[in-house]
Amino acid sequence: MTNDNIDNPPPPQAVTHEQHQYDRMMVVLHWVLALALIAQWALGNWMVDLPKEPPGYRAGWFNLHKSLGLVMGLVILWRLGWRVTHSVPAPVATSALWQRAVSKLNHGLLYLCMLALPISGFLGSSFSAYPVKFFGVALPRLFEPQPDMKSMLAEVHETVAFVFAALVALHLLAVVWHVMFKRDGLLKRMMWGS
Ligand code: HEM
Ligand code: HEM
Repeated sequence: MTNDNIDNPPPPQAVTHEQHQYDRMMVVLHWVLALALIAQWALGNWMVDLPKEPPGYRAGWFNLHKSLGLVMGLVILWRLGWRVTHSVPAPVATSALWQRAVSKLNHGLLYLCMLALPISGFLGSSFSAYPVKFFGVALPRLFEPQPDMKSMLAEVHETVAFVFAALVALHLLAVVWHVMFKRDGLLKRMMWGS
């Protein structure tokens, strides 16, 4: 007499726990950085037109931009580290292949800009004659002042900031399209709670 339970065990149940949302850390990092980066972008564009008089006025805003940007750079590294070590939900089922490809490209380029902005800003500032001050504390000098390098990196910083704004605009348009026309709950994937 055979024992079915031992000789013919039932097939293991496929345990599929499909992830429908980004985890809470990703949600917090996404929204904190979204707000911070938009404010930082606006501050950068505003401060470059400030007058050089009275002395210290323009420099004060520049130093604030640099200090905030360095903090954001650290948070961005944290976010990237989290992103590569944790899983994310699969693309929304209703999206066509080309839409998934565009979305993936957009997200990848957003991450690239998020890295390039603090790096180009910090390197450019490190070639300036003024030390980079982190909330008032002068950081050790990395390079001798080199005006050419400073201007070249300032151009890079400005160009990346421009591309970043275009990518964020596309990102927003895609979210609006999902929310208003597709109504597929995309925004909920990046929200707290279930
Ligand atoms: C500076 C502003 C922003 C940046 C840099 C940014 C960046 C990103 C990135 C990189 C992702 C991909 C996450 C991943 O899979 O690793 C993402 C996803 C997402 N973002 Fe943003 N975002 C910004 C603003 C916003 C805003 C304002 C909204 C809503 C109005 C929004 C809604 C979403 C949603 C719903 C997702 C999930 C998309 C999906 O499930 O495929 N984002 N964002
Ligand atoms: C973290 C994200 C950052 C964003 C979104 C950002 C954005 C911007 C924008 C939009 C401008 C105006 C560009 C122009 O019209 O010339 C700007 C200028 C500037 N940023 Fe940033 N920035 C960031 C980080 C940093 C960091 C970390 C530093 C330095 C430590 C920095 C240093 C500067 C300086 C010195 C300028 C003035 C001119 C120039 O060199 O381009 N930025 N930034």
